[in-house]
Amino acid sequence: MSALKNDTLLRALLREPVAYTPVWLMRQAGRYLPEYNATRARAGSFLALCRNPDLATEVTLQPLARFALDAAILFSDILTVPDAMGLGLYFVEGEGPRFERPLREEWAIRDLRAPDPVAHLGYVLDAVRQIRRALDGAVPLIGFSGSPYTLACYMVEGESSSDFRHTKTLLYRRPDLLHRILEVNARAVTDYLNAQIEAGAQAVMIFDTWGGALTPHAYREFSLAYMGRVLDGLKREREGRRVPSVIFTKGGSLWLEDMAAIGCDALGLDWSVDLGSARRRVGDKVALQGNLDPAVLLGGAQAAESEAARLLAAYGQGSGHVFNLGHGISQYTVPENVSALVDAVRRLSPAYHA
Ligand code: CP3
Repeated sequence: MSALKNDTLLRALLREPVAYTPVWLMRQAGRYLPEYNATRARAGSFLALCRNPDLATEVTLQPLARFALDAAILFSDILTVPDAMGLGLYFVEGEGPRFERPLREEWAIRDLRAPDPVAHLGYVLDAVRQIRRALDGAVPLIGFSGSPYTLACYMVEGESSSDFRHTKTLLYRRPDLLHRILEVNARAVTDYLNAQIEAGAQAVMIFDTWGGALTPHAYREFSLAYMGRVLDGLKREREGRRVPSVIFTKGGSLWLEDMAAIGCDALGLDWSVDLGSARRRVGDKVALQGNLDPAVLLGGAQAAESEAARLLAAYGQGSGHVFNLGHGISQYTVPENVSALVDAVRRLSPAYHA
């Protein structure tokens, strides 16, 4: 493997000195880019795109060709893991993900097994290897997975939900069964992330999109504890470097101190928390990644620049900040505004690392 030419992201995630604040954007390869829509049309569907390593490599690189980003993120989806468990993932156009066989019956929960990533998710590992080759050391590649709890939400509901009625019914009626799902998911996520690291992922991120919908007590018991288990099982070094880990609980800003204590290198932040106060709360335990409201990019280039300036000032002097959005980029974003944002971070951030 060729040497990494730009390791700013990896250094910032480990709070090592950097010359400027690195930036990447959640969902940076997506429907706001016309070239993504063209490749997706060629693939036939979103899932076909995920399952084709050539095309997944192509769309992973698309945002890097346009913007001065400091990382690539594997193009895939968190729901490939429950799909590999046999739940039958499909997408309804304009409505999001569905499972043919949601996990509701006790017998099905008892039968659930963690998939062997090499046997059942080989297409993702092929994509990781191929993206690494195509990047040729330009920037690091981030691998990812859903959190055990967030995966369980989709597995039990069988689709996106606003209230998680079935998952929370299980949580309060049969916590033993939810724990059983989460144990299998934690094993599956650990194996999956380790396989991505083995294939070439240089940092990993756990997306806990729905942990924030739990009570503080339930969050610790049903989401945080299982992310801690995953972190305990991760390979921490590869190619002679530490592989930094990031955990992101959307809606988790009240619990940053707890999250910072479970063995990750960095926390992803949504936009509900002031970056400066988040930094004071976690101290020197972890780096922070975030947390621009993605809607700022709908406001125009000027808004993007002034809000970027505000965020950089809120974090303040020194390393340990990775500039990102507080959630995925909106499909209605104009790419020119993303250019303005990324360029502003590049232009304004060196002053904070002098
Ligand atoms: O960040 C990246 O560029 C990497 C790719 C990535 C995707 N999904 C591609 C995608 C990542 C990291 C994800 C994670 C993911 N997927 C999460 C966690 C992060 C979050 O957004 O909270 C969740 C909850 C999912 C599940 C999922 N996938 C949903 C709910 C949807 C439909 C919503 C939508 O935007 O339509 C998807 C589809 C999806 N995943 C798209 C992309 C680019 C859009 C699909 C398309 O092209 O039609």
